[in-house]
This record gives sequence, structure tokens and C-alpha cells, in this order.
Amino acid sequence: MGKKRFSVAVAVTFLSLVHIVVSVPFIMLHGISAECSDHTNSNFPRLLSNLSGSRGSCVEIGNGKSDSWLMPLTKQVEIVCDKVKQMKELRLGYNIVARSQGNLVARGLIEFCDDGPPVYNYVSLAGPHAGESSVPFCGDHLAPSGYIKIPTDIPEYMKSSKYLPKLNNEIPNERNSTYKERFTRLKNLVLIMFQNDTVIVPKESSWFGFYQDGNYTSQPPLLSPQQTKLYTEDWIGLKTLDVAGKVKFVSLPGGHLQIATTDVIKYVVPYL
Ligand SMILES: *[C@@H]1O[C@H](CO)[C@@H](O)[C@H](O)[C@H]1NC(C)=O
Ligand SMILES: *[C@@H]1O[C@H](CO)[C@@H](O)[C@H](O)[C@H]1NC(C)=O
Ligand SMILES: *[C@@H]1O[C@H](CO)[C@@H](O)[C@H](O)[C@H]1NC(C)=O
Ligand SMILES: *[C@@H]1O[C@H](CO)[C@@H](O)[C@H](O)[C@H]1NC(C)=O
Repeated sequence: MGKKRFSVAVAVTFLSLVHIVVSVPFIMLHGISAECSDHTNSNFPRLLSNLSGSRGSCVEIGNGKSDSWLMPLTKQVEIVCDKVKQMKELRLGYNIVARSQGNLVARGLIEFCDDGPPVYNYVSLAGPHAGESSVPFCGDHLAPSGYIKIPTDIPEYMKSSKYLPKLNNEIPNERNSTYKERFTRLKNLVLIMFQNDTVIVPKESSWFGFYQDGNYTSQPPLLSPQQTKLYTEDWIGLKTLDVAGKVKFVSLPGGHLQIATTDVIKYVVPYL
């Protein structure tokens, strides 16, 4: 090897080392019926690392697959909050990528985790942010009971649901401005919706869109994110972030979580 080529190689190696050392790390949170060790959830963070040059890994909660079904979301957030506080590499801050139900854990981590390291960018893939109105996900004892929201029975939801009303600061006398303050600190919020998603119902919930509130007998009209009260009254700071140009509403072809690598490069990697 010539002297010149050798120094170029040294410089390139040095620069990639510097990049790894100074780049912000990320964590990934998987969805329901999944675990960090399965094929998809072990490969996806590796793909993200490969493409971005940032370190990152899937963070497991409890025993993975069965806890993703059985453990209440409040408890899942407590666990992941403790975990990120113990991860020294996240001390100066980190980014989050979350899949499906993992987004409700991610948002809990951002809003509820006292004294946790700062979260900079948050990329949400198919998160049921405004609720899930699909009936197959029933059963009071299951994690999804924390975000089931049947549009024809909002009063019951406000009274009984244990997780989403709190996460979304929906209950008039129980709104906590700390949650909003923390969520508003994000530098970027990327909300990815899949056009053929039949798991998140309505799929627009991935953008914080949902059916209009009330006690209707048939399905109420669907509201865009900007038409919801969560947005107009800015319960969690979504409007503040949007007005500041920090929210990216991304709509991709394909079914639930079916993201093409070209779209990963375009919409996820720039935030890692
Ligand atoms: C990531 O890069 C490593 C090393 O180049 C490669 O072996 C691996 O297959 C890649 N993984 C993914 C998921 O892209
Ligand atoms: C709001 O949340 C913060 C952070 O968890 C907590 O310290 C505070 O006590 C809460 N305030 C109210 C009024 O519940
Ligand atoms: C529900 O419907 C009843 C009868 O139509 C009405 O009196 C009541 O105000 C409604 N409640 C809500 C929360 O919309
Ligand atoms: C989305 O669904 C439509 C209607 O079922 C279908 O024609 C189209 O091929 C689907 N697109 C993708 C990318 O899955």
C-alpha cells in the first residue's frame, strides 16, 4: 500500500470511529407478540445501525412475547424507564424507534420517566397513538386493554381505560403539564402510517387521527390529527411540535410495519 493510500485508509477508519463515538445511540421497542430475539426484531436494529452508523439495540421488557400481551403498559413503562437509566451509553441522550404497541411504551418513556436521559428524535412505526378500535384485541387483563377505544362508547373508555387517557392527557381534571413539557422537548417526531394497515384501526391513529368523540350508535366521522381535541387543545404538545415544524407525517404503501429498505433510508435513518 502506498503512503498516501495508507493515510487515507487511516483517516477513514478514524472518522468512522469518531462517528461511532459521538453519534447519538438509539433504542428500539418491539410490538405485541414479539420479542427482541425474534428474527424481525433482532435484524431491524442491526439494519438501522448498519445504515446510520449509530449504535442501537432492541430493549426487552420482561420475558418478551408473553409479557408484551400480559403486562399492563404502565408496568412496561416502569421497567423500560429503569433500564434506560441504567444504560450508561444513553446518559447523554438517545433516539427511539418503536414498532406498533411499542410506541405506547415509547411515549410513556418520554412522558412518564422521571430523571431519565433526554430523548432527541422519536420515530414511530404504526403506533396506535389515538387508540385502537378493532375488537379482536379484547380481554380486560391484556396489555391492549390499555388503549382500546371504541368510538361508540367514549364515556366508558374515559372511566375505565387504565393507560391511554393518561398518556394522552385526555381526562380534563387530571392533565399533567409535565407530560406535555417532556413530549414537547423532542427535536423530531416522525409518525409513520401504513396505507394498508389493518392491524391499527383506524390506521390514522398512527398519526394521532381518530373518530370524533361522543356516544354514537354507528361509527362517528374520522378526524385528521389536526382536527382532534388532543391537537387543537394541545394536551400533550403535538400542536406545539407541529407548529415548530418538528413533526413529520409520513404515509407509506404496504401493510402493518411493512417498510421497504428504501423508505427506512429516507424516513428513519436521517433521525438516527
Ligand atoms: C449489518 O452489517 C453486517 C456487517 O457488514 C452484516 O453482516 C449484516 O448482515 C448486516 N445486517 C443487516 C440486518 O443489515
Ligand atoms: C405530574 O407528573 C410528574 C412527573 O411524573 C409528577 O412528578 C407530578 O407529581 C405530577 N403532577 C400531578 C399534579 O399529578
Ligand atoms: C349521549 O347521548 C345522550 C342521549 O342521546 C345524551 O343525552 C348525552 O349527552 C350523550 N353523552 C355524551 C358524552 O355525548
Ligand atoms: C394495498 O391494498 C390495495 C387494495 O387491497 C391493493 O390493491 C394494493 O396492492 C395494496 N398495496 C400494497 C403496497 O400492499
